[in-house]
This record gives sequence, structure tokens and C-alpha cells, in this order.
Amino acid sequence: MSEQKATNITWHEGSVTRDEREKLLGQKGVTVWMTGLSASGKSTIAVILEQMLLHMKKHAYRLDGDNIRMGLNKNLGFSAEDRAENIRRIGEVARLFTDAGVIAITSFISPYRKDRDAVRASMKSGEFIEVYVNVSLETAEMRDPKGLYKKARAGQIKGFTGIDDPYEAPEKAEIVIETEKTKPEDAAKQILSHLERGGYLRA
Ligand code: ADX
Repeated sequence: MSEQKATNITWHEGSVTRDEREKLLGQKGVTVWMTGLSASGKSTIAVILEQMLLHMKKHAYRLDGDNIRMGLNKNLGFSAEDRAENIRRIGEVARLFTDAGVIAITSFISPYRKDRDAVRASMKSGEFIEVYVNVSLETAEMRDPKGLYKKARAGQIKGFTGIDDPYEAPEKAEIVIETEKTKPEDAAKQILSHLERGGYLRA
């Protein structure tokens, strides 16, 4: 699906090393990849985590599903192929941020394991931290902040994740957040301590 189209292109190496970049920033580049149903709380947790990191003078940047779909990925819908392309592009962008030494925090449903695993495989070991933002469909439907589950149940939205489209939960996520028992602030702290313990917040 994402075959190399252009020919006669050559990779041009820079002279600034990853190590130099990370020393300058006082942190290591990493992607915190949040996955979960719509209304699981991914974006809420991402906003809090980004804020906490910035207060600690760490450079973090959010890539958010709905936002990215208004720009970079505005030509994509919700078919399996489009979702795969959505995740592929976000994966590439997150990889660039990670290479630049930034902490990229992504919040996309990213329902297909294969698409998430492809992003993981594109990065070095330890650079991709998968966070499963776990919520039951029942709770997500009860929250329904955008009224989308109601519309999907009424047949006004077709192919809605969890209703008539699949969600494949991660099998080996580095972090699992049980959102029904965890406040968003505590979820953000859970991720933050994983980053601290893993040495990502120092160079
Ligand atoms: S993904 O499946 O390709 O990862 P993404 O996270 O970018 O999805 O976008 C999901 C958001 O789009 C949801 O939070 C919701 O607001 C909106 N949305 C609109 N239609 C759908 C749909 N059919 N399935 C899931 N989300 C949808």
C-alpha cells in the first residue's frame, strides 16, 4: 500500500548526531503511542501529560486524531485502508519528532494491531511506547462526549469503531491504563513515571 514510487533518490546524511541533539535538549526522543476506543480518554490524558512535561522543561508535542484529520490527513476517511494510511503517516511524523529528540504523544484510535506494529517496527527498540487506554464499550458509550456513539447506534454513522467496525486491543503494550479506575491526572502520572524510570527525561 505504501510502496516506494519515486526512483533515483538518495538518502542524504546530516552531520548532527542524535546524541548531540539529545544532549542539547536534556532528554531522549520517544513516541508515546496511545490507542483505545473513541471516548477512552486518550486526548485528555495527552493534554495533561504534555503540560506536565513542559512544566519539567521537557519538549513534548501532541499529535491528535481529530486535529490531524483536519490538516495533514484531511483526505482520509475511516475505511480500513484509510485508517492504515492515517496511522502510517502519523507514524512517520512521530518518527521524525522522535529523531529530533522530542517526546511525541499520539492519540489515535489506531484500531488495527498490524498498523501499530508497523510503526513500532519502524523505530528503534525503546523508542515506541504503546499505551493501551482501556475502556469498556459500555462506558465509552455512556460518556459519548461528541454524541457519535448515539449516531452510530442510530445508523447515522457507518463503520464506527466498537459498534460496527473492529478494535484490536494491544497484546504487549508497555503501559495499560484502566480508565474506569484511574483519573486522567493519575493516568498521565503513570506514563510520566514510566518515562522517568526509563531514563527518557535525561540525556
Ligand atoms: S483511526 O481509527 O484512524 O485511528 P482517529 O483516531 O484518526 O481514527 O479518529 C477518530 C476520531 O474520529 C474519533 O474520536 C471520532 O471523533 C471521529 N470519527 C468519525 N467517524 C468515525 C468512525 N467511523 N470511527 C471512529 N471514529 C470516528
